[in-house]
Amino acid sequence: MKTIGLNQQEVQLVLPLLENFLASENVLNLKIRNYHWNVTGAHFSEYHKYFEELYDDSAENIDEIAERIRMLGSKTKASMGYFLEKSFLMEEVNTDVSADEMIKNLLTDTEKTISEMRNAIEIISETNDSGSEDFLIALMQKHEKNAWMLRSMAQ
Ligand SMILES: [Fe+2]
Repeated sequence: MKTIGLNQQEVQLVLPLLENFLASENVLNLKIRNYHWNVTGAHFSEYHKYFEELYDDSAENIDEIAERIRMLGSKTKASMGYFLEKSFLMEEVNTDVSADEMIKNLLTDTEKTISEMRNAIEIISETNDSGSEDFLIALMQKHEKNAWMLRSMAQ
């Protein structure tokens, strides 16, 4: 991609990282929707609404990661099977998770995402792709805020 000043080697280093985040954010998004639909208990109303806010934010993240991949000149692969294969997060197959477990699971996934992003930022900082580096730093900060909120709710 000479046009934006990155060589092929740099792009090939950054793309798989972005693809992993796109896949994992899709798995996380469906997990949050599962929890939004299936949450029960005394905090139903509060958690139901909170999960909706979370999956709306996550949907924005998905779109931004997908479009960042396009900016680097690659097509964005988008199928459920591909996302599941690439994701570093596990999908939720259970519909009977307790509200407390939901919060804990989302916190664990969010912390894993932050740690993967921190590693990726370190790798990308070695290239000239400051655009992707800055993009991932901002995305990591969003996840850090979610981690703080989830941790504050966890019992
Ligand atoms: Fe809904």
